This record gives sequence, structure tokens and C-alpha cells, in this order.
Amino acid sequence: MARISALLSLLLLFMTMTTASVERENKSSSAGLFWSTAKEEGDLSHNTGHADDSTAAAADDIDGGFSSLEGMLQWAIGHSDPVKLKEKAQDAQRLSPSELRQRQLEIKELMEKLKMPSDAQLMQIALDDLRNSSLSLEDRHRALQELLILVEPIDNANDMCKLGGLGVIIRELDHSDSDVRKISAWILGKASQNNPYVQKQVLELGALATLMKMVNSSSVDEATKAFYAVSALIRNNVAGQQLFFEEAGDKMLQDILSSPSVDIRLRRKAVFLVGDLAECQLENIDKAEMPFFSNRLFLKSVVDLTASSDLDLQEKALVAIKSLLQLKTTEAMVFLEFCRLGEALERMKKQLEDLMLEDDHREYVTDVESLRREVELTFQAKLENVRAVPT
Ligand SMILES: *[C@@H]1O[C@H](CO)[C@@H](O)[C@H](O)[C@H]1NC(C)=O
Ligand SMILES: *[C@@H]1O[C@H](CO)[C@@H](O)[C@H](O)[C@H]1NC(C)=O
Ligand SMILES: *[C@@H]1O[C@H](CO)[C@@H](O)[C@H](O)[C@H]1NC(C)=O
Repeated sequence: MARISALLSLLLLFMTMTTASVERENKSSSAGLFWSTAKEEGDLSHNTGHADDSTAAAADDIDGGFSSLEGMLQWAIGHSDPVKLKEKAQDAQRLSPSELRQRQLEIKELMEKLKMPSDAQLMQIALDDLRNSSLSLEDRHRALQELLILVEPIDNANDMCKLGGLGVIIRELDHSDSDVRKISAWILGKASQNNPYVQKQVLELGALATLMKMVNSSSVDEATKAFYAVSALIRNNVAGQQLFFEEAGDKMLQDILSSPSVDIRLRRKAVFLVGDLAECQLENIDKAEMPFFSNRLFLKSVVDLTASSDLDLQEKALVAIKSLLQLKTTEAMVFLEFCRLGEALERMKKQLEDLMLEDDHREYVTDVESLRREVELTFQAKLENVRAVPT
């Protein structure tokens, strides 16, 4: 801890000195020195696994955040004494150009010797901050933002568990500030994503029910992030899915799917999760199928989404329907007569044909049409199965 502070005040001092020397001196040499150092550190932290933001953006709406080095500096500024820093910067200004350059070299050597603090150390600091009930709201947000970045690599997520961090974050789900709750849900979702070890612990700590209540929040951001966390906790996790149904997750999904007034992002996530759950069921054929999959009202709420004006939502609904049709406990006649799937697919076909005439997104429309066609074939096969079996 002391070592980290020392390093960071040096880093900050180095920046101030560089600025000072730029003002007074030929800047190409001194400024170049600093930036090459900064770049090395940046590369270093990328190697430890912070560079995955592109996948995060694809997997889930990353909105904001900072690179690791920048996060580091922010942390440093937050943990430094501004008065001392100012004094040091003034000291630096009194140095001659050659002394200054000598100091810079010394600091560079020192930094190389000290190395940057490990991610686990940074997580520990952020968690200690969160445990402090007199921490300002601003600092609480900052600590959470840091953890949001830090938990992304799977090893870090596991380390956070071992540091007892999950309990700390879960407590923040009850905070009075909506942003604190939102980022905390987001962290839990990120840490649980494709990580059975973290999933298990978060489930055992009882966070699923809290997150499911948060999906009802009037803040769309909070609701969306909570839904993201719920999905991440139960994806490919049979025990999690069981808990989800015990907490009336089927009703939650049905409410979201059948309410056009619900935010479109939440509806897309909900139908995506339905497809995911059905897919997981198909992969675990020895497990009894969840009764809600054969609930006709639920199935109808999924089929009805094909009439949405949002093509993305329609596509996700098709993916879900394709898996639902392949389940043993869903009935072809329910899809035909109650959900009116045949008519829905016909209507979609016409709509897609019209869209195909426009130049925009033609490729995407073609993809959706071939998916629609697959669903149609799966549906026909299921209907023929019924007709072939005498009742
Ligand atoms: C700055 O340094 C470069 C190379 O070291 C030199 O070519 C240039 O003339 C210097 N400029 C001034 C303003 O001293
Ligand atoms: C808790 O936070 C307050 C406000 O930032 C700070 O003054 C205090 O030193 C912190 N306590 C601990 C134990 O870190
Ligand atoms: C969400 O709100 C609906 C309607 O207000 C309610 O029926 C449902 O029980 C709530 N769900 C949770 C998990 O609190």
C-alpha cells in the first residue's frame, strides 16, 4: 500500500515536471521521455488483460469507462494530497534543465524497479474504499468504476471472489443511489459472465432475488443492467435457472415480453434470454423441461414479438422460437392454433420481402429471412410429427 502511493506520487510528479519542462525547455527530449514511459505502462496493463473492451462492447453495452492507465491516474489523483503535489511541482520548476533531466531518468529507473501495483492490489484498495461507510458518493462511484474495469479478465473476477469482494458489491445493490446500484449490478454481471465459479458464489450469497427486483426499477439503466446481471448468473447454469423459476422469473419474462411500453433494450434482452434458456434445455436433454416452456400464454408472448416494428427484436424472437419448437414439451398444435405461428411467419415473410426492395440493410434482411425460413421448416417438421402419430 505504501509502495503504491509512493509510486503514484512519483508518477504524478513526473507528469508535473514534464509539463514544467515543456514550458521552459526544448520539449522534444523531455516530453518524449515521459510519453514513451506512459506507453510502456499502458502496454503492460493491456497484457494483464484489460484490452477486452471490444468483446465487452459486443456482449453488452459498455457505455463509458476508461483505459487502465487513465484509470490508474484517476486513482492516483484521487489518492494524492494536492498541496504536497503543488509544492513538489514548484520544487521541480526551480531545477535547472540538466538537473531536471537527471531527476527524470532517476524516476524512470525507480518506476521500472517498483513496477505497477497488481490488479489484485488495486481491487483490494477499491473494496476497502467501498467498505468505508463515510466514503463520499463521488468516491464510491469511482471505486465501483475501477472494479468494473478490473473484474473483466476471468482471473481478476476469481481474485475478487477470494478477496471477499462479492459480498461487498452485493451490499451496494441496496444503496440509496441508483447509479451505485446500477454499477454494482453491472460488476456482478461482468464477473459472472461465463464464469461458473463466480456464478455459484453470487447465487449462494442470494443476490439473484435482489437483482430480479431491480429489473422492476423505474430507471431504465438500472433495470437493464440488473437484467444483464440476472442473465449472466443463470446462463448455462442449471442451479441458477432453478432459482430463477422459484423467484417467478417466468412471470418476469412474460411481463416484459408482453408489454410494448417496456424499454426496447430490456425486451431484446428478455427474448434473447428465453432463446438462451431453451437452448440450454436442448443441450441438457436428461434434465426435465421447465414447465413454463409449455405455458401457452408465454409461448404466445414470444410469437407475438414477430409483429414488432423492431427488426432486431423480431430476429431474436425467431431464434427463441426455433429452440422452443425443438423442445419435447412444447406442442405443435399450441403453436398452430393458440399462438398462430403459421400466420405470424407468413406476415413476416411479406414484410421482409418489402424491406428487401429497399437498399438499406439488405444483407441483414436476407439473413433474417433465411432464419424465418428455418423456423418455418422446423415448425412444419413438428406438425408432421404430430400428424404421423395416431392419437
Ligand atoms: C530542440 O532540439 C532539437 C534536437 O535535439 C534541435 O534540432 C532543435 O534545434 C532544438 N530547438 C530549440 C528551440 O532549441
Ligand atoms: C473513510 O472515508 C473518509 C472520507 O473519505 C476518510 O476520511 C476516512 O479516512 C476513511 N476511513 C478509512 C478507515 O479509510
Ligand atoms: C415487478 O412489478 C410487478 C408489477 O408492478 C409485480 O407484479 C412483480 O411482482 C414485481 N417483480 C418483482 C421481482 O418484484
